[in-house]
Amino acid sequence: MSKKIVVSGGLGFIGSHVVVELQNEGYEVIIIDNLSNSSKEVLKGITEITGIEPVFEEFDLRDKIYVSDFFKKHSAIEGVIHFAASKAVGESVQLPLLYYENNLASLIYLLQELEQLPTANFIFSSSCTVYGQADELPITEAAPTKTAESPYGNTKQIGEEIIRDTAKVSKKLNAIALRYFNPIGAHESSKIGELPIGTPQNLVPFITQTGIGIREQLSVFGDDYPTQDGTCIRDYIHVVDLAKAHVAALKRLIEKNNSESYEVFNIGTGKGSSVLEVIHAFEEVSGQKLNYKIVDRREGDITAAYADTTKANQVLGWKSQYTLKDALLSAWNWEKKIRS
Ligand code: UD1
Repeated sequence: MSKKIVVSGGLGFIGSHVVVELQNEGYEVIIIDNLSNSSKEVLKGITEITGIEPVFEEFDLRDKIYVSDFFKKHSAIEGVIHFAASKAVGESVQLPLLYYENNLASLIYLLQELEQLPTANFIFSSSCTVYGQADELPITEAAPTKTAESPYGNTKQIGEEIIRDTAKVSKKLNAIALRYFNPIGAHESSKIGELPIGTPQNLVPFITQTGIGIREQLSVFGDDYPTQDGTCIRDYIHVVDLAKAHVAALKRLIEKNNSESYEVFNIGTGKGSSVLEVIHAFEEVSGQKLNYKIVDRREGDITAAYADTTKANQVLGWKSQYTLKDALLSAWNWEKKIRS
């Protein structure tokens, strides 16, 4: 019998790609999403790719009663992968209480319900933002966390702590936090991808929107960083690779292979790319020049971050497969598809 997995935020950018990989692997998926930053159309894309329409429950995880009713309605759940959260760094500075409530209340309510289930396997969507500017590169899981730059970043740190503390005393909870580096790209079918609302804050959606002509010019935030070409370095990972890491982490918990009740893994490619390298790779795969200009640094940006992925490679048996160019091409194909 196929195993039932709940994916909160399953219609979002990363969540939808995870749903596809889970269904491809034979899991039965139930999506919870409040559509605050996603659309029902995404269900169609998932169904077209996999031939299976996942169950969809539309509600807000801040409604404790709904969360509890959901777990009464759906039995035999083998795992929960939790994506539902607000993620705009700038907005989180303006609306801290919204971020703390949305990102932490939903997590607490889910964990409270999980504790009542016969099996409580939980995957948390964390971020390399917890490391801030690490003292050593590449960044291992042993690197200390730094004071968060924003309420958004803080919710990831506090979220991890809530799960760690709960797993420590819980007889049931087994959890893995995946610390993502920079997820980019789209499914190769161009049926699902990133759908930023308003002006994109992240580099790659801004690049593809500039490429297609929605934005006039990309601003490169600073070229005076102590890096090879002066622009910041990040570890850009294809969202499909990232999605597969979730399946590997889930299997580890379901098969009870975890060595501790709470584990963390870096999920990246292990390779750092500068902003200019990303721009030039985009120009190559899209066959067109990108209009960009160097401007001042963006407040809160760190100089460089890329993952040491040894732990995920060895323990999860997972490794990224796609290159930066593969990821940029998929992002570009997706941009062209949604604008056509
Ligand atoms: C950002 C967030 C981080 C969050 C992550 C989620 C900030 C300061 N950090 O990370 O907390 O976890 O998104 O995906 O917002 N860049 C430009 N021009 C642009 C946009 C970006 O030059 O228009 C540069 C940035 O300076 C950075 C790189 O591109 O060097 C990547 O930026 P971005 O995609 O926003 O990711 P992060 O800053 O790594």
